[in-house]
Amino acid sequence: MTIILGLESSCDETAAALVTADRRILAHALAGQADSHAPFGGVVPEIAARAHVDRLMPLVEQALSESGVKLADVDAIAATAGPGLIGGVMVGLVTGKALAHATGKPLIAVNHLEGHALSPRLADASLHFPYLLLLVSGGHCQLLAVEGVGQYRRLATTIDDAAGEAFDKSAKLLGLPYPGGPELEKLAAQGRAGALKLPRPLLNSAEPHFSFAGLKSAVARAVQAGTHESADIAAEFQAAVVDCLIDRTRRAIMSAGSMTALVVAGGVAANGPVRAALAELAAAHSLAFVAPPGWLCTDNAAMIAWAGAERFALGMVDD
Ligand code: KG4
Ligand code: ZN
Repeated sequence: MTIILGLESSCDETAAALVTADRRILAHALAGQADSHAPFGGVVPEIAARAHVDRLMPLVEQALSESGVKLADVDAIAATAGPGLIGGVMVGLVTGKALAHATGKPLIAVNHLEGHALSPRLADASLHFPYLLLLVSGGHCQLLAVEGVGQYRRLATTIDDAAGEAFDKSAKLLGLPYPGGPELEKLAAQGRAGALKLPRPLLNSAEPHFSFAGLKSAVARAVQAGTHESADIAAEFQAAVVDCLIDRTRRAIMSAGSMTALVVAGGVAANGPVRAALAELAAAHSLAFVAPPGWLCTDNAAMIAWAGAERFALGMVDD
């Protein structure tokens, strides 16, 4: 059975994983860096790159020993080759190249977004192309028709901030610790959406794209005004993001052509209300709904190994 070693280091998670072509995750080792970046309220690229240097090889060794697989038994090495924070990307990709060179194994350079885009197929063997993907992470917010490996038709993107970025910056404005997205979700659960009104940028617009910058500014003004509880602002913010994601996704369902499923991936896909609203939208359009488990939605190396496995099966390796 084909075994792929995957490496991820494009942002603030260092990770190594071993995944087989028949979807067995033999090991996935991950080290977050939240503690190192928390004092700065966001990811500091230079600190991240240095942390990747220290952590990546021990994580590769951990993944190998946990799975009982020897490096010699691996069929190919897949590493995130961008987009991301360039220092971190260099650490992972050069490590992958060095391992490939030393062992004589093929290297597969994986686009990080392709890792997110194909991760639902690792979690669900019944998911076939073409599917409509909402990719919502800290860096991106896109709707894609995923037509095959390396075949992505972009239907919408953000014209300013990504949804995850809006979560993180709003969380910071609300005084929540980094990383903000999951913290904001927890606070929102204690508040009441509708206690104040925040804007839903581009709602019902014929323009296919997303926009979140105005919503973030509205959160800043609401915090400054001091007239509402933080939990209510968080709840209303989250409701506004959900409304925008659903409105734009509904539009894409209409325009994408025949799709096998509605799929969500990327860090914001770990958000409960986002998942629930998308599941409802899919049901209303008689579409299957696929959402990978939360750990596979946020950055990890299993999705990179899996994208590598998909590419390897098609003979797509890199020099
Ligand atoms: O995919 P990811 O791990 O990294 C990127 O490639 O960007 O996504 C990270 C983003 C962050 O903005 C984080 O705040 C957000 O996903 N996120 C969440 C939740 N968990 C992670 N946003 C809202 N609710 C969550 N539960
Ligand atoms: Zn990501």
